[in-house]
Amino acid sequence: MTKPVNGFSKLTKNEKINWLAEHYLSNDPATIEVLKQYWNNDEELQKLHDEFIENTVSNFYLPLGLAPNFLINGNYHVIPMAIEESSVVAAASKAAKFWSERGGFKTRVLNMTKIGQVHFLYNGEKQKLEKLFAEIKPKLIEAVKPITRNMEKRGGGILNIDLVDKTEDLENYYQLFVKFDTRDSMGANFINSCLEKFAEVLQEEAHNCSDFTEEEKDLKIIMSILSNYVPECIVRAEVSCPVEDLSEDKNMTGEQFAEKFIQAVRIAEIEPYRAVTHNKGIMNGIDAVVLATGNDFRAVEAGIHAYASKNGKYSSLTHAKVEDGIFSFWMEIPLALGTVGGLTSLHPLVKLALQILQNPSAEELMKITAVAGLAQNFAALRSLTTTGIQQGHMKMHLMNILNQNQATDEEKNELVEFFTHHTITHSSVIEQLEKLRS
Ligand code: MEV
Repeated sequence: MTKPVNGFSKLTKNEKINWLAEHYLSNDPATIEVLKQYWNNDEELQKLHDEFIENTVSNFYLPLGLAPNFLINGNYHVIPMAIEESSVVAAASKAAKFWSERGGFKTRVLNMTKIGQVHFLYNGEKQKLEKLFAEIKPKLIEAVKPITRNMEKRGGGILNIDLVDKTEDLENYYQLFVKFDTRDSMGANFINSCLEKFAEVLQEEAHNCSDFTEEEKDLKIIMSILSNYVPECIVRAEVSCPVEDLSEDKNMTGEQFAEKFIQAVRIAEIEPYRAVTHNKGIMNGIDAVVLATGNDFRAVEAGIHAYASKNGKYSSLTHAKVEDGIFSFWMEIPLALGTVGGLTSLHPLVKLALQILQNPSAEELMKITAVAGLAQNFAALRSLTTTGIQQGHMKMHLMNILNQNQATDEEKNELVEFFTHHTITHSSVIEQLEKLRS
């Protein structure tokens, strides 16, 4: 058992690593080497990464891949994707190519409103609180002017503040429910700063309100924080084509493909066990773009999964139908993204990813990201309802197994050829590799 450590954050990076090795890694120099081999040679660049978070000891790499040929609203895009899972980029690229030959993706942003709340307790007459709120509303707006001025210059700011009575659900619980337009920034800092100021003013005004009893004056702020649930920050992405154009394989007509595909979507619409995996496939595409562009994938995940349950039951985010001989497949999701602020100008690869996407506005990035999610779901359902998912997966898995076993290029070529005619399993790959080597 090791003892707790005091003042860990004050240690230098090397001291932290030495402490770690001593207490948790049996002082094995090889483990220290693993951490250090991921340090960047460029000291400035390393310092930049060290300072993104606290107690940094190394960098954690994820592959950055490119999915080309995305025809979105008539323009071609190549989409940068940061993800560790094999097959995802290949699937996105395949779906992009498929739809680029069938009119491409159509996408639009329906709205871009973000939400924040001041949660507080007030033990008293509701009408008196409502009166105070109506009186101080202009004061609240005025108090955040130093924070909102720049955002207003860019066309954003505070859209609305409401007082919400939640006392039926929790004794004495009220909220200030605030709507924001944060333009091209994700807006977390902006929203939270405004909310904290609102909370301060509200508490002060309640305290000084001559109409209030002592109990009412004792209004208690519990917390002030943005919501990652953004059901009014919605992007829609869709594809459509005549049913007969869906066929790429002489063993299956477009109608047969559409029928099976739509059934697969219906299953995800009504069956939560399937819906979670179905939506996970969508998130493969979305998270990869969100990460590559320096956005907060935890916020996006939380918001999207909450939205998938908006009708009281977890369900598919995508939908499909055939009408008048036209197959359509679409999705509407909440996506709070930023293309300014945060990591966007700090992390060189994030900056480059945005450059690859032609420096999009937040609105454009919402569209591209939603398309990546829809493409991913199309590719997954297409494999699942035709060849099965393992065929493609195992091909990529073969490469991973070969790399893990330090296969040479020559060994890789031989085994890729061998496994085009044989079933790939972990043990069969190892067996063939050993055979080659003996
Ligand atoms: C794997 O990462 C994603 C899938 O499971 C998605 C799905 O089942 O739709 C293939």
